[in-house]
Amino acid sequence: MDINGKMAGKNVVSEALAASRKYETQNEIDKNERPLFHVTPPVGWMNDPNGFSVYNGKVHLFYQYHPYSTEWGPMHWGHQVSDDLIRWEQLPVAIAPDTIYDAEGCFSGTAIEKDGEHVLIYTSVMKNPDGDGVLQNQSIAVGDGVTYKKIQNNPVVTGDMLPEGLSRADFRDPKAWLEDGRYYMAAGCVDQDNKGLVVLLSSADMESWTFESILARNEDDLGGIWECPDFFKLDDHHVLLVSPTGMKAEGYEFHNGNNSIYFVGEFDKGEKKFDGGEPLSLDYGTDFYAPQTTLLPDGRRIMIAWMQSWHNLWIPGGQKWQGMMTIPREISLKNGRLIQKPVREIEKYHANMVRYSDEVVSGRRSLEGISGRSLDVTFVITGNKYSRFTVNLAKGSGYYTRFIYDRENNIIEMDRTFAGFEKDVVCIRRACVKSAECYGDVKEKVDEQQEAQDSIKLRFILDRNSIELFVNDGAMTMSTAIYTPIEADGIELLCEGQAVVDVEKYDII
Ligand code: FRU
Repeated sequence: MDINGKMAGKNVVSEALAASRKYETQNEIDKNERPLFHVTPPVGWMNDPNGFSVYNGKVHLFYQYHPYSTEWGPMHWGHQVSDDLIRWEQLPVAIAPDTIYDAEGCFSGTAIEKDGEHVLIYTSVMKNPDGDGVLQNQSIAVGDGVTYKKIQNNPVVTGDMLPEGLSRADFRDPKAWLEDGRYYMAAGCVDQDNKGLVVLLSSADMESWTFESILARNEDDLGGIWECPDFFKLDDHHVLLVSPTGMKAEGYEFHNGNNSIYFVGEFDKGEKKFDGGEPLSLDYGTDFYAPQTTLLPDGRRIMIAWMQSWHNLWIPGGQKWQGMMTIPREISLKNGRLIQKPVREIEKYHANMVRYSDEVVSGRRSLEGISGRSLDVTFVITGNKYSRFTVNLAKGSGYYTRFIYDRENNIIEMDRTFAGFEKDVVCIRRACVKSAECYGDVKEKVDEQQEAQDSIKLRFILDRNSIELFVNDGAMTMSTAIYTPIEADGIELLCEGQAVVDVEKYDII
């Protein structure tokens, strides 16, 4: 594609784009009123991460953005960049809904480098000229890492390219990659029975695309449209992430409504089909959706997600921003399961270490120096002479969010009932504790499992309005938003029985 040609002489910023940039600059909320190191919108509403990519030596993160209110509205793409995935710099709004083909919104998508330029592929939503509802197509904007221009040939992918029976109204959230000299795009869709699936298209030049296959589909009971697919190689396997709408709860594994799930399997390059095995939950907290990954030059695959839920939206009156991202997480595979760890760059911001070893905890305990709301704190709890061990975080008068490890049943329960909500949002989630060894049928590891269960490692990342729990070095995670007054910064331990605890705490500054 002659992207350069398309760019030539087109430095006109539309009224909608100029207005959104002016609005976000003039109304930017003080950084002290937002989380310290998690991405938040400068003002207004944010949902899915978009275009998570490395370009010109920086990590770029775009996001679904409605600057004008704290509610979802006509979707723009906000934009921030980072050198280390922890400190983010605000850049101007990248794209706004300002053409006929995206007048109903610039929905989620991807970013990829081509011929030295940064290419955004997004879902352009327009009214259906021949009927009711909307059409969702895929369009392109090309830029230099700061300023982006939509190309003349948009949309480059339309629903007409899909086989009969696939939706034109629910066809969105492309993720693109380059493989063997060809560009590929995975996007979410539904069939006539409203079952979610992922389609695969390919292109030599990113301008003309061909339908390749249905990469994967909902064969079971895994919800409606599979939003925000991501598909990548990890170690010797392929991983598919999708965020299905309208799922039903299944034990502790899934919950009602929008979930984020993953499959680990094999990609048949000839058939262009992915055989993914059983669906697994990506996160067991209340707030985790639409994850997207990127590959760093050093080979690490990094995942980031919207740390919020479509069904549990609440912010305190007067708060002028809504929505944040998780901490970026390094992901890897172990025993066929995804392991997630906060990016190691967080350690650069560690300060004021406080450490305890072999503390015997029985009943209620607070530990001198273990408190705060922007923290990286790890508890290793050992022993088999207790039934339940609770960590209360963000604790102040009348407030706390608790994580209860029920050792006998091998369950963790998180409960944010007293985190400051004034709406009846979902507050409690439970999950079976996992460790990298406990997964799968690795029989020879049974003894180790036994041992592993006598010791559990809970690492919490707190950042003013969120708590992310990484259990057993990232074998499972629970992410939750909290809106507790910032003064509530206590941490309290509660042991029913007696346990031995190691603690390591760092403030994040
Ligand atoms: C997922 C999603 C996407 C869509 C976007 C719109 O949260 O519904 O499917 O592109 O949000 O903002």
